[in-house]
Amino acid sequence: MSVETRLPTGVDLASEIDRLRKERNAIILGHYYQRPEIQDIADFVGDSLELSRKAAETDAEVIAFCGVKFMADTAKILSPDKIVVLPDMDAGCSLEDSCPPDKFRAFREAHPDHIALTYINCSTEVKALSDIIVTSSSAETILSQIPPEQKIIFGPDRHLGGYLSRKFGREMLLWPGVCIVHEAFSETALLKLKAQHPGAPVAAHPECPPAIIDHADYVGSTSGILQFAKTFEGDTLIVATEPHIIHQMERAMPGKRFIGTPGGDGNCNCNICPYMALNTMEKLYVALRDLSPRIEIEEGLRVRAKRSLDRMLEMASGTIGRGDLGPVGED
Ligand code: 13P
Ligand code: SF4
Repeated sequence: MSVETRLPTGVDLASEIDRLRKERNAIILGHYYQRPEIQDIADFVGDSLELSRKAAETDAEVIAFCGVKFMADTAKILSPDKIVVLPDMDAGCSLEDSCPPDKFRAFREAHPDHIALTYINCSTEVKALSDIIVTSSSAETILSQIPPEQKIIFGPDRHLGGYLSRKFGREMLLWPGVCIVHEAFSETALLKLKAQHPGAPVAAHPECPPAIIDHADYVGSTSGILQFAKTFEGDTLIVATEPHIIHQMERAMPGKRFIGTPGGDGNCNCNICPYMALNTMEKLYVALRDLSPRIEIEEGLRVRAKRSLDRMLEMASGTIGRGDLGPVGED
C-alpha cells in the first residue's frame, strides 16, 4: 500500500507533523536539497557537516532525517541511542552506489602506504574502512592538516578529489565516482546563461566537473554557496548545484535573482537530485507517526565507522594534534 493511501483523509500535514514532533520529542533535520515545504518545517536546515554536528548534539529522542540515507546513517552512527527515521529508505546517492565496500577494501589493500580520506557520501561500511571522513565544507581544513608527505586515497567523488588536488597542488589517488546531478550540468547551458546575464557571478559545488568549476567565481559546499549568495554584489547569481537550495536564497535575499544551472540540454529535470526528492511531507508524517522506516546499524560496524567520523568532527574544528593522525581504518 502506498504511503498516501495510509493517510487519513483531510489531514493537515504540516500541523500533524508539528504535533507528532512534539509528542515524539523529535527533531526534524533537513538538507538544503529537500523540497521547500520540508525545509520550511524542519527544525534545522544545513549542509552535511552541520547536520552531522546537530545529530551528534541533539537532546531529542527521535531524529527525523530529511536527506539521503548516508546522512541518516551518519546521524545514527553519531547518536546510537536515538531513534533515527528516514522518510524514504530508497533515498540513496550515486556516490555511495559507486563505491562498493569490497572493491574499496581491495583498493586500500593495494595501497597500504596511503591513508583513506573519504567523502561523507559513502556507506557505513566504507566509513569503517576509512581513516578520515570529510564533507565539502570541511575538506580543505582537514586536508591542510595532513602532512604533505602522507600519501592519500580520496573517494568516492573524483570531482571533489580533483578539485582539492588542483587547489592544494597535491596528488591523490582518486576513486572514480561521480554525483549524477552535478555531473549532468552542461557547460554549454552555463555559458548561455552567462551570456544572457552578463556580469552575474557563478557559484558552484565542488561535486561539479572541472568544465563547470572553471567558470565559477565561488566554489564551496551548500552552506558556503548560501553564504556567498547572501554577500555577493550584484542582483543575479547563477547557481551550479541542486536547485532546491535556491529556496533558502530567495528567503534570505528576496530582492535578488537566483538562476539554477540546467542539466543536460536544459530540457530535463536532471539537475534535481532524484534521491533527495523521494522524501515528501506525507512520508515524513508517516515516519514520525510510525517511527519507521528506522535506521539500524550493527554495533561493531557502527563503532568502526564512528572513528573516521570523529576524526572529521575533531579536525574540522581544529581540535586534533598532528601527532594523532595515524590510520584508524579497519585492518
Ligand atoms: P554539502 O551539503 O555538504 O555541500 O553536500 C552536498 C551533497 O552532496 C549532498 O548530497
Ligand atoms: Fe548524492 Fe548527488 Fe544526490 Fe548529493 S546530489 S545525494 S551527491 S546524488
